[in-house]
Amino acid sequence: MSSNLQILTNAEAAAKACAQRIAEIVNESVAQRGISRIALSGGSSPKLMFAELAKIAVDWEHVWLYWVDERVVPPDHPDSNYKMATECLILPAGIPIEHLNRIAGERYPEEAAAHYISEIRVDFKLKDGQLPQFDLIHRGMGSDSHTASLFPGDPLIEDDYDIAANTYVEKFKSHRVTLLPGVLKAARHTVILAPGADKAEALWDVLEGKINYKAHPCQIAARAPFPTEWFVDEAAAKLLRKKS
Ligand code: 6PG
Repeated sequence: MSSNLQILTNAEAAAKACAQRIAEIVNESVAQRGISRIALSGGSSPKLMFAELAKIAVDWEHVWLYWVDERVVPPDHPDSNYKMATECLILPAGIPIEHLNRIAGERYPEEAAAHYISEIRVDFKLKDGQLPQFDLIHRGMGSDSHTASLFPGDPLIEDDYDIAANTYVEKFKSHRVTLLPGVLKAARHTVILAPGADKAEALWDVLEGKINYKAHPCQIAARAPFPTEWFVDEAAAKLLRKKS
């Protein structure tokens, strides 16, 4: 079993441990570099984790927030990842509004992706062809082993050179905007929060199965040597090899 895998008793404990680790990483990068740029995911598992994170002392004055992916909806829509983060983390923690670099889900997806890319290029002072290095990327994993908005079979899974793109997700018959694999691989730290029995097979595929990014996108930057730390619960871990 990977030493970067923490198996907690339940989803609440996994969320708490994940929040504590995120706070530690963020505070460390602020201490080392004076700033921390982090990218957050959406979905349902982060709700508890964000609520825990909002209670911890974090130097938010020096933290800039970005999103790993976004649904193509306005920022006040119930499906918006930005809305969820606002309600569960940004408002309760009092994160300065000018530190938020959301993906403009209300725009045409191509436009939203292009705008997000140019914002990231400016903020990270990137030259042509360079990728941003986030201090931390927080990811989740679906029961189909997608991560970010990279779903099984998407040709973007092989794109290690671009920053972000819009993609059509057949499963939901809708577009999304997502960071791309090269950016996920370049992160200084990655934490993946993936609790729940419905993720047990995907977790086995991603951590112990044969590498096949196209079939299991969450394998991207998921195992050593990538600095990726997993927070799961016993239900999600039930198929994993137990430590002898
Ligand atoms: C999103 C995501 C996505 C998420 C997984 C897991 O916008 O939905 O960022 O990649 O992390 O779907 O989501 P759950 O926590 O809801 O299982």
